[in-house]
Amino acid sequence: MNAFSEILVCPLCGESLSEEGCVWRCGRGHSYDAARTGYVNLLPPGKGRNARTGDEREMVAARASFLRKGFYDPVDREAALWLASEGAGGADPFFLLDMGAGEGTHTCRVAGLLADALGTRVTALGFDASKHAAESGCRYARSLGYFPKDGGDSKVRAAVFAGNLFRLPVRDSSAHAALSFFAPIAWEEAGRILRPGRLFLAASAGREHLIEMRRILYDEVRLTDFLPSPPPEAGFSLIGRKTVSFEAELGSREDIGNLFAMTPFYHRTPEAGRERLSALGSLTVKVETVLSLFRFRGDGPGPEPVSVG
Ligand SMILES: C[S@@+](CC[C@H](N)C(=O)[O-])C[C@H]1O[C@@H](n2cnc3c(N)ncnc32)[C@H](O)[C@@H]1O
Ligand SMILES: [Zn+2]
Repeated sequence: MNAFSEILVCPLCGESLSEEGCVWRCGRGHSYDAARTGYVNLLPPGKGRNARTGDEREMVAARASFLRKGFYDPVDREAALWLASEGAGGADPFFLLDMGAGEGTHTCRVAGLLADALGTRVTALGFDASKHAAESGCRYARSLGYFPKDGGDSKVRAAVFAGNLFRLPVRDSSAHAALSFFAPIAWEEAGRILRPGRLFLAASAGREHLIEMRRILYDEVRLTDFLPSPPPEAGFSLIGRKTVSFEAELGSREDIGNLFAMTPFYHRTPEAGRERLSALGSLTVKVETVLSLFRFRGDGPGPEPVSVG
């Protein structure tokens, strides 16, 4: 059986999905074509399917190129070790969901590190509203041997599909852990897909994240951070927060440009700031990421019934 068919459901009717050749089908005859990379578009049909919520193609390419060089590896390592040490184990395979996975580098790296730490198989599924990001994630997972065309014996299975994180095409209470790295957080949906007692890990920018870059881009820099916190009725308890802080040495214009293009500053920097940054050939920046770990108690409002029709 395909590693993902145990967890995926049809975004239209909520029935199980299974793979037949290059097509995923549900029992009611809805079908979704898989691309050569294995990528599938599971965005709910109609409004939203073509919405421009996803990152643009160039931002996806910049993010992939930057992250796959390993610049944020300390964040992935801490995330995987923390999940493993807080009792994420006991399941084989272990299902990890990444909500707003982007181009899947964190999804794949955390999955690989978690499989090593737990000594079990890990099946990781990322979802992103951006088709380009999801396709890139499938290509990356394939290049690592995590998403083989047929069979294969990797302990890690991973893919990124196009999907809406507020309405994931995933079975209720199926995930052993969920990630949200620098993405919008859908607390209620996280509670629907997580098994009770399981973990939700959010990564967000700390106060001094990329401070050197911000000082170059803007005349005035305000130090603020955003700490994710669930509404009380969502059924999550905070286990703790950890700050992962380190220096990244960007040795080329390309690395600087790629980091800039994957930040929110990319869309809101005045020309003068852009010019100052593009004049630099190297830059050392502080990466400050806050990891917030929550346990899903399972006493929230519970999943809404899946509408059929
Ligand atoms: C800042 S990026 C982070 C991507 C990735 N987690 C990372 O850390 O590299 C935020 C991502 O959230 C995705 N996103 C925003 N709204 C979404 C939604 N409703 N459903 C799925 N993905 C969404 C965007 O397409 C984007 O790729
Ligand atoms: Zn269906």
